[in-house]
Amino acid sequence: MHDFNYRHNNLYCESVNIEELARKYGTPLYVYSRNTLISHYRKIKEAFSPINPLVCFSMKANSNLAICKALVKEGAGLDIVSGGELYRAFKTGVSYRKIVYAGVGKTEKEIEIAIKRHIFFFNVESIPELELINKVAGRLGIRQKVAIRINPDIKARTHKYITTGHGGNKFGIDFETAKKIFLGKSRYKNLNISGIHMHIGSQIVDAEPFIRAMKRIAGFIRDLQRRRVAIRWLNIGGGLGIIYSKERPQTAKEYAKAVLPVLKKVNANIILEPGRFIAGNAGALITRVQYIKETPSKNFAIVDAGMNDLIRPSLYGVYHEILPVKSRSYSNSKEIRVFDVVGPICESGDFLGKGRKFISLKEGDLLSVMGAGAYGFSMSSNYNSRPRAAEVMVEGSKTKLIRRRETHEDLIRTEI
Ligand SMILES: Cc1ncc(COP(=O)(O)O)c(C=O)c1O
Repeated sequence: MHDFNYRHNNLYCESVNIEELARKYGTPLYVYSRNTLISHYRKIKEAFSPINPLVCFSMKANSNLAICKALVKEGAGLDIVSGGELYRAFKTGVSYRKIVYAGVGKTEKEIEIAIKRHIFFFNVESIPELELINKVAGRLGIRQKVAIRINPDIKARTHKYITTGHGGNKFGIDFETAKKIFLGKSRYKNLNISGIHMHIGSQIVDAEPFIRAMKRIAGFIRDLQRRRVAIRWLNIGGGLGIIYSKERPQTAKEYAKAVLPVLKKVNANIILEPGRFIAGNAGALITRVQYIKETPSKNFAIVDAGMNDLIRPSLYGVYHEILPVKSRSYSNSKEIRVFDVVGPICESGDFLGKGRKFISLKEGDLLSVMGAGAYGFSMSSNYNSRPRAAEVMVEGSKTKLIRRRETHEDLIRTEI
């Protein structure tokens, strides 16, 4: 399934022993399997091959240049949400014709740079944004393609912070307002309003909410087409869930099988923006046990990675599997003990996992936090003035440092 497996009780990424990586590069350390990354991208491409979509990797999931470059080399486009991601995209060498730009708060400066670069589509989230893009495009004398991000008012069963497609949140435009935009699009002289975008949330494990949203949008497109408004591009966003513990998410094939009949009825080119599905299980965060602390109520394994390195457990309360890098067997069940795996940050919310069972866990042991390839490093910070972790990419038996560990100097580099 993925490329993190035990060989003789040692956890490997592809053909590389993770213990050796930790020794060479130190901890905390993000380790990525290039093979998992690329094969997940290919799974989506293959599943959707009957309609040959443009697949734009969502950079917010993991914006490391080496990761993005590897995908761009495979033919991926990039989905961006800021000027910073546009800058990174530029450094990957991706064709600007494969960049789509979403986000509710694009600034005038960001819009200007993106138009000058000739990006493919802006996914527009409000009328004031539409007006601003129209104004900037006019000033630059460039006719810009835009898609309207529709909020289809669908509740997806996922964490409330990562649903984006129902009425009460800040994303997208409701159908009524979108219809007015399309019917009055000649007002926006500098825009080619020819696409529709949707993204209903992240870590969605079944196709049903996607289908509901797409059916609503397909009906909307047909209505527009009857009124002679052509929609040439439909961007169905990302959101595909992955396995963190016991989830049984749809595979790329199952997803495609479920949604292709709806998409085929819409006479438009299709764009996808997966992030987590491609990068999530391609990465693990390796951390070392600093202290074993026993208290009357609990045992703590205090490790050298904290919520600044991987914030998902603290922010969303979600589960990441935590594996020992050296697996042990036991002769006596007393050797199995339960731990909260916590970081060094001065917050009670700083944990990577709670109530986890380990065999004879001791100080100096290495643990691997799985499924950390998406929204892991990209959401990390310097909180508590902790230098951010190094990142390593594994390809077969080769390893490449793709981000060096930050130093204390790096922490104050921009301060005056
Ligand atoms: C507009 C947009 N597209 C794509 C994605 C990627 O989502 P995922 O990583 O769940 O595939 C996101 C993430 O929230 C998003 O906001």
